[in-house]
Amino acid sequence: MSERSPRGVFQEGAIPCQPGISCKESTLVGTQPGAELRNPKLDLEGALIARDRVGIQDFVLLDAFTSENAFLDNLRKRFTEDLIYTYIGTLLVSVNPYKELDIYSRKQMDYYMGVNFFELPPHIYALADNAYHTMLTEYNNHFILISGESGAGKTEASKKILQYYAVSCPSSAILDTVRDRMLMSNPVLEAFGNAKTLKNDNSSRFGKYMDIQFDSEGEAVGGHILSYLLEKSRVVHQNHGERNFHVFYQLVEGGDEDLLRQLGLEKNCQHYRYLAQGECSTVSSINDKNDWKTMRNALAVVDFDKSDIEHLFGIIASVLHLGNVHFEPDVFGNATLLGHAELRWVSKLLSVNVQVLQEALTFRKIEAKSDEVLSPFSVDNANYARDALAKAIYGRTFNWLVNRINQSLENQDSSRKTVIGLLDIYGFEVFHLNSFEQFCINYCNEKLQQLFIQLTLKAEQEEYEAEGIGWEPVQFFNNKIICDLVEEKHRGIIAVLDEECLRPGDATDITFLEKLEEKMEHHPHFVTHMLADKSTRRTLERGDFRLLHYAGEVTYCVVGFIDKNNDLLYRNIKEVMHNSKNSIVRECFPSTETESRRRPETVATQFKNSLQKLADILMAKEAWYVRCLKSNETKKSGHFDDMLVRHQVKYLGLMEHLRVRRAGFAYRRRYEVFLKRYKPLCPETWPHWRGVPADGVAILVEHLGYKPDEYKMGRTKIFIRHPRTLFATEDAYERCKHELASKIQAKYKGYRTRGEFKKQKEAATKIENCWRGAQARKERERRAWAVKVIKKFIKGYMTRGEAKTTDNSEYLAFVRQNYLNRLKQNLPKTVLDKTTWQTPPPVLTETSEILRVLHYRLMVRKYVRGITPQRKAQLTLKGITSAIFKGKKDSYPASVAVPFVETRIAEDDINIRALQMIKQERIKYSVPVIKYDRKGFKPRPRQLIFTQAAVHLVEEAKLKQRVPYNALKGVTCSNLGDCIMIFHVSCDDPKQKGDMIMECDHLFEALTKLSVITNKQDSIKVQQGSIKFEMQGGKEGFVDFSTGQERMCYKEKNGHLMVVSPRIRAR
Ligand SMILES: Nc1ncnc2c1ncn2[C@@H]1O[C@H](COP(=O)(O)OP(=O)(O)O)[C@@H](O)[C@H]1O
Ligand SMILES: [Mg+2]
Repeated sequence: MSERSPRGVFQEGAIPCQPGISCKESTLVGTQPGAELRNPKLDLEGALIARDRVGIQDFVLLDAFTSENAFLDNLRKRFTEDLIYTYIGTLLVSVNPYKELDIYSRKQMDYYMGVNFFELPPHIYALADNAYHTMLTEYNNHFILISGESGAGKTEASKKILQYYAVSCPSSAILDTVRDRMLMSNPVLEAFGNAKTLKNDNSSRFGKYMDIQFDSEGEAVGGHILSYLLEKSRVVHQNHGERNFHVFYQLVEGGDEDLLRQLGLEKNCQHYRYLAQGECSTVSSINDKNDWKTMRNALAVVDFDKSDIEHLFGIIASVLHLGNVHFEPDVFGNATLLGHAELRWVSKLLSVNVQVLQEALTFRKIEAKSDEVLSPFSVDNANYARDALAKAIYGRTFNWLVNRINQSLENQDSSRKTVIGLLDIYGFEVFHLNSFEQFCINYCNEKLQQLFIQLTLKAEQEEYEAEGIGWEPVQFFNNKIICDLVEEKHRGIIAVLDEECLRPGDATDITFLEKLEEKMEHHPHFVTHMLADKSTRRTLERGDFRLLHYAGEVTYCVVGFIDKNNDLLYRNIKEVMHNSKNSIVRECFPSTETESRRRPETVATQFKNSLQKLADILMAKEAWYVRCLKSNETKKSGHFDDMLVRHQVKYLGLMEHLRVRRAGFAYRRRYEVFLKRYKPLCPETWPHWRGVPADGVAILVEHLGYKPDEYKMGRTKIFIRHPRTLFATEDAYERCKHELASKIQAKYKGYRTRGEFKKQKEAATKIENCWRGAQARKERERRAWAVKVIKKFIKGYMTRGEAKTTDNSEYLAFVRQNYLNRLKQNLPKTVLDKTTWQTPPPVLTETSEILRVLHYRLMVRKYVRGITPQRKAQLTLKGITSAIFKGKKDSYPASVAVPFVETRIAEDDINIRALQMIKQERIKYSVPVIKYDRKGFKPRPRQLIFTQAAVHLVEEAKLKQRVPYNALKGVTCSNLGDCIMIFHVSCDDPKQKGDMIMECDHLFEALTKLSVITNKQDSIKVQQGSIKFEMQGGKEGFVDFSTGQERMCYKEKNGHLMVVSPRIRAR
């Protein structure tokens, strides 16, 4: 057996460990998920006790593996805890609980999906999943053989597997259709092929082998069904307490009124002879109405069209009508029809001529040479012909149905597929009265048992061989002898039966029995009334034969064997059917059959051949087994019938199977796996074994103290002889695990923190890099943009004088805008500011000039608007001053900023007498001055007062001099920085003393006022050099001016007045 074979995987899995549950518990204690939830006490400490309480989950680990009692104890223990599944290595034993268990939910499916087989408690899903994954990895074909007696749960198991694949396999929209069809083919086939028997309310009355095809992706892409020997006799006859096929009851109970009217049916099963015989048309566990709906819906999913469905129901109804066709003998004893109504319905529903049909049912057509002669039937003949027709129609329609479903499941893609076959075949069956059907069914079970023995032994032997371990032969019962008894050429029961059927003359069931007695006389597994010893004889009727099957004794009644094996249908009936207008019927009765002169194969031979084909199909595949056991005969939940189970355990060969598995070694697993689990138990292998796993295991087991006869080292696996060795190891592992767990936890925490830190650091670097990159890209863009702009700018600059282009116009626009912006921000703030104006670029010279003018005007306007009348008067005066002195007298510039005042001497400060003298002339301005004598140039302080009419010089109360303005010829001052002013007075008036020489600190103010009062500007003169002055009597004098360190006035030797003033630099 190859190392990767499913059995290998399975084997290794015998010690499963389920996450979250103590390994010991899941290993040694059978726990199913549902049960675990109910048994929270199964904690670490409780594991060992629990081991005994719910038994072991793999019989291979049963210490007393040869004891049937121990085996049963384990099954019972588990069964009472609702643990219905237990392994024997690869094989799954399932005990029918007869109640709904919460272990088939979607959650459970997810739980088992893709999980290594040995990690979870036994389950049908684990087996299905493991078969599927082995198929995918090894790319080979598999089959799951589900066996067990009728009612043990085979069909349920196969449905569970199919449902599991439907949910767990990957799929697509198209494949969903295939998947749905596969699932939905079940209700259809069950309606037509299942019936209530004494053993099972939903007993499959046909064998079913279904291939599910998977593509390399593991998607279910197609399917194919093979059906085996439908129990047709049930159509016309049911034992007490049994029913016909479900579909009849479903139609009558569930069909709506319209449909029933079209089919001529009444809504009452009791009305139909074919339904009423068993006297149990309603069963509490069956809801025909609902099942009808399900089946109708399934037909649509499986792609049956309207006419298919119409024809199909027509056939079902026609069978019911046919059952009610009744014959009476006429005066000659020939069969005549009693009432035509039913037959008319039959002919209508099957679309055949009613006369022709009636003739076929009441006359036999005999071909005599070239003539055809009609020979009338007796009532028995007619009844026989009627029932034969009913069986034929139903049986053939069933085959048609399977073919039709196969068409809808067919995968068109020719690429290679792997398959998983599901074999749900009728189980071993023993009734009170057993007939031809039971004979076939039980023969089939013998064949499957044979196949099972061959495959398991072969597999086991192959594994030993592959591992280089010596094979130790096992004692077990090989049922080949029974198979041979039934099927051997020329000598077997089938051969004898066929011979009787085919031979000319009057062969009857009794002659058949006699032939058997003759041939099988000394066979250890064959007994009849005649052959039996005295005590056995009492249990046998004359017409019985008994076979000692591997599963137990079964007594068959020979009545009907010949007929059933012949399965004769008169030729004229076939012809009638062939001419039917119901397409299904026509297809079921092909013309080739009526034309052929060859005798068709007998039923038993057909069945034998089909089983041989099946065996060939299965032998080419990897096998998985599900063995179903009935817990009791009464379908009661929670009841474990020891006797019944013991019997099944025996005949299903479970003990033998276990013995084969345990022949040498209870336990085996791959070195890597063994080492991986138990390496903590040895310092040399913990935490890592660097060498070859086999060497590691050798060191490990030596350290554990395994004795040489307790184990063997194979090529890839270690084989352990006794479970107790393993338990001890497991216990040690359990103890060690806790210590290790805390160590590992600490390590792991450190590792996690480091990892987290590293991750964060990496993230930071990554972000930094990204950020930098983004910045660099931005900078590059900015630069590229700048280069472009600068280039454009330069080009624009170079061509600025040329004709307008995009470049230069943009440049010039920029220049303009730039200049205007600059200008806006740097406009002169005052009218006097003549320097701040921005120099315009050439293109804007003109504009700049206009703007400048505008701006100044605006400023002037603003200034002017903001000016007060006083200030205006002041400025007018300053303007006059400027007109007189600007550019002429050195001290002028310094005077500009000094504001003029109304007057320098308040009226109160003028002597009251002096004031009275001049008051009537109205004083306009007065200012203190120094007057110099005309001769000695003595300085004398005086008040100079300008009135409306004259200049007055006042000393306290004395009016020293009065010069009317018309006598004032002019005023002269020097061009230097002094404050001397000389008033030239006309000498015509004798009262006048001559010109006045005065020094006034407010020279500009005083003279400006004077010029305004007299309205004579040009009479004020600025003169360079000496100034001549005149005195009374024609005399004259001079005032000389010069500059010096400090200001002074003195009389020179030449008699002139010398005025020195400090030099003022800028003029
Ligand atoms: N796993 C199961 N859980 C609950 N009930 C089951 C289970 N298997 C079988 N049964 C019950 O037993 C009945 C018979 O099972 P079925 O599969 O039809 O038997 P078989 O095909 O072996 O004759 C079912 O109708 C169902 O009531
Ligand atoms: Mg079944």
